[in-house]
Amino acid sequence: MKYFIQNLPKAELHLHIEGTLEPELMFRLAKKNSIKIPYKSVENVKKAYEFDSLQSFLDIYYAGASVLKTKEDFYDLTMAYLLKCKEQNILHVEIFFDPQTHTNRGIAFGTVIEGVVGALNNAQERFGITSFLIMSFLRHLSEEEAIKTLMESLPYKHFIKGVGLDSSELGNPPSKFQKVFQMAQNAGFKCVAHAGEEGDSSYIKEALDLLHVSRIDHGVRCEEDKQLMQRLKDDQIPLTMCPLSNLKLKVVDDLKNYNLKRLLDFGLLVTANSDDPAYFGGYLNENYEAIAKSLNLSKDDIRTLAINSFKASFLDKEVKDKYIEKICQYQM
Ligand code: HPA
Ligand code: ZN
Repeated sequence: MKYFIQNLPKAELHLHIEGTLEPELMFRLAKKNSIKIPYKSVENVKKAYEFDSLQSFLDIYYAGASVLKTKEDFYDLTMAYLLKCKEQNILHVEIFFDPQTHTNRGIAFGTVIEGVVGALNNAQERFGITSFLIMSFLRHLSEEEAIKTLMESLPYKHFIKGVGLDSSELGNPPSKFQKVFQMAQNAGFKCVAHAGEEGDSSYIKEALDLLHVSRIDHGVRCEEDKQLMQRLKDDQIPLTMCPLSNLKLKVVDDLKNYNLKRLLDFGLLVTANSDDPAYFGGYLNENYEAIAKSLNLSKDDIRTLAINSFKASFLDKEVKDKYIEKICQYQM
């Protein structure tokens, strides 16, 4: 199964670039940029990655991101992830970045995006990996701040495919961001949102009804609402699920109890993704391997997840079809 997963062509649709910051790079950048981090060693950092909720992770994740300062830092961060993609046979990626995490500590929007885009372009030329960027608004901050970020992004609009919504979900429902999502949609951005990770199924419904998203990030809690389940199925609204993330943040107690296979069997357009691989103990292939084992997935289930990853992407139909054909032909 490991080799089947390794060589299978895949897309990744739920990946925070700040969540790919490995402890080794964190240390190197902290030293280079003279930034203090509360860890003595790489081992020390790894030990700190014990989470009991989304918030306990976010606190450490935002602190880690503080070592990123220059365009080169963002380039190095992104290139390290893209090298992983090459290694794992990930042919297409749709990457989240959190501009406010950086602009709020004085890093220019242009510094972040120029570094990230430089690496994306380079990886497309060198490895043929295609990619889109999705700018995420931090939902623990105000809608005014999100609007300000949207305005700041406009000079770089040609680099950005869509907008998303992440950070602390509980108490920050999609309804808080209705206006900025409408503005983003009017400006031609695709819309997605994290919903139903810790928040209940009403967050998913709100994301669909009020933010008009075309994908739900996570969506684990959709099963609480049977009508919603039918709607997700009828409209084939993709869920970008993240198994190891949900396990590490205790959204699920054991991957044997994870609902991904049940949702897939019900007919939802489910995809598997890594979310923040440097923090959750695995990149995309490790996520596929973990659910293959815990949920007893067949090769056909795995193939379906890979096909879904392209179906649910923002690629043009002809490109999607080409990738999907490749997966259908894949034998091992
Ligand atoms: N949920 C919310 N915000 C995030 C996540 C997540 O899984 N990862 C990075 N920011
Ligand atoms: Zn996420």
